[in-house]
Amino acid sequence: MAIVHNQIHDSLSAQALAFAKANFLLLIFASVLARALYKRYASPLRHIPGPVLASCSRLWKVWSTYSGHTELDHIALHQKYGPVVRTAPNEVSFGSTNAAKDIFAVGKGFHKTMFYSVFPPKHAPDIFTEVREWKHAQMKRYAVTPYSLAQMQKRSEPIEGMIMSLMEHLTNYSINSGKVCNLGNLLHYFAFDVLGEVAFSRRFGFLEAEVDVEGSIKNIDDVQWYDGIVGQIPEFDILLRNNPLRPYLPFWKPNPTTMTRIAVEELEKRKQPDGTFDSTGIDLLAELLRAHEGNSEKFSVNDVFSIAHGAVFAGSDSTASTMQSFFYLVLNNASVYANLTEEINKAQKAGELSEIVTYAEAQRLEYFQACLKEAMRIRPAVGLGIYRNVPQEGVEIDGKFYPGGTQVAVNGWVLHRDKTVFGDDVEVYRPERWFERDAKFMGSHLYQFGGGSHLCIGRNLALFEMNKALIQILREFEITLVHPGRPLQYHSTFFVVQEGLEVYMKKRSQK
Ligand code: HEM
Ligand SMILES: *[C@@H]1O[C@H](CO)[C@@H](O)[C@H](O)[C@H]1NC(C)=O
Ligand SMILES: *[C@@H]1O[C@H](CO)[C@@H](O)[C@H](O)[C@H]1NC(C)=O
Ligand SMILES: *[C@@H]1O[C@H](CO)[C@@H](O)[C@H](O)[C@H]1NC(C)=O
Repeated sequence: MAIVHNQIHDSLSAQALAFAKANFLLLIFASVLARALYKRYASPLRHIPGPVLASCSRLWKVWSTYSGHTELDHIALHQKYGPVVRTAPNEVSFGSTNAAKDIFAVGKGFHKTMFYSVFPPKHAPDIFTEVREWKHAQMKRYAVTPYSLAQMQKRSEPIEGMIMSLMEHLTNYSINSGKVCNLGNLLHYFAFDVLGEVAFSRRFGFLEAEVDVEGSIKNIDDVQWYDGIVGQIPEFDILLRNNPLRPYLPFWKPNPTTMTRIAVEELEKRKQPDGTFDSTGIDLLAELLRAHEGNSEKFSVNDVFSIAHGAVFAGSDSTASTMQSFFYLVLNNASVYANLTEEINKAQKAGELSEIVTYAEAQRLEYFQACLKEAMRIRPAVGLGIYRNVPQEGVEIDGKFYPGGTQVAVNGWVLHRDKTVFGDDVEVYRPERWFERDAKFMGSHLYQFGGGSHLCIGRNLALFEMNKALIQILREFEITLVHPGRPLQYHSTFFVVQEGLEVYMKKRSQK
């Protein structure tokens, strides 16, 4: 009996084996399909609409990020499916500002996802990349003062020095008014050099040479491109850039940028013979070193370095992109440009502007403020989503419950097109809306700097330098687009990296 049974069993398994061999691909396909369907239908998120591919696999997110225009994909998704869309088996994208208010509420337990852990430096996370909430909070506490507006004011001199350099470069273009000036590139170089000054009291030298020194900016762009894509599937990072074999592969050595080299040099220079650090000075590095002195246990020199170094990476492309968008949008609308110029001229004639415009003076130029806000509304500098985990016990977002394990995403490009807040003509760049509608209400729904406990710590610097530099350029030059109406080329890596803002510069006669 047992023998017969075994024989039957043997022949059955032989048959199964033969079937498997003959239909190997079919079986793989079936199991992939089963897994995909399981992800789609066994999930508590199964009732949420979205692309079929997205509900079965993270491939949709990866593909969309890879395409370079995930912000446009997200706008289209929310137009098609409504304010709540399933963008991955366990991820929901929210398009309404009501949902964003819930997600960014401080203390509600929405913590960063592993998306951020992919961003370098892997082994010494900074404020942006740290995903352990307690550690993030600790670092941020020590960094708040060094990053404050008051401290940025103290750095006026080096920042104004950079602005004067920028003016010199622009003046040289204006001398030959037929010469094409790539204003976008100059602003990009300027933003990087400002960060060098603010963080390390050093210029990286981009603006002076008017060139991307050693391809460093391009390098950052490439790194961010990787971060954005692999951040959607962070487990794979270990197979790719953070492959443990990498240090042994000569052709795959990390390539430190000019910025990183200068940062390391500056820290070394400040090291004293007794092992402590010289913390005099007003730059970010010095101030963070001072914060370290009283709290060396909780706030290490590694933390100091990561934060100062990270500032360059978080603060340059973002600020450059915002300034490029501003000019692109203003210069493409003659009536906006005329109105803005008139406001600045008036202030100038009334003696309300210093040699280099102060931050306070800039605040009084209401139309300028509306132009800048409107640029940040319609083209926020972060093109990817902001990702958070739902707290373990689950949570209500915009009136509906989501269980722990769900990840949520919001994209500034989508939120800033919420018609209930900004009006029906959200697609139009129209600074006037800031005078017609409740500006305070609209302002509280702008997310170009993120929100909640992860609100951009560099926004004071960004606003400080942009307010001064943008007005200074507008007051000194008459600017004409080389290609009116031509869209900027751009792609969203993490930041929106833009190319093609070419102009003719002409010095204004009266000053
Ligand atoms: C116009 C310019 C800027 C824009 C549009 C911008 C945008 C943002 C956004 C949207 C976030 C939130 C990211 C998230 O939660 O996923 C953020 C965070 C951050 N930004 Fe900025 N940023 C700008 C300038 C700067 C500057 C100049 C610096 C540094 C000097 C900086 C440093 C940081 C850091 C360290 C974080 C992480 C904050 C945290 O997680 O607590 N940013 N920024
Ligand atoms: C501007 O042009 C002058 C004359 O060609 C030159 O000496 C100067 O170095 C230039 N300045 C900048 C910032 O390029
Ligand atoms: C400029 O905009 C302001 C605010 O909307 C408006 O009051 C003013 O009339 C405009 N001026 C011009 C010249 O268009
Ligand atoms: C130009 O700006 C004005 C004022 O903001 C606005 O009404 C108009 O629609 C804009 N034109 C275009 C083509 O965007």
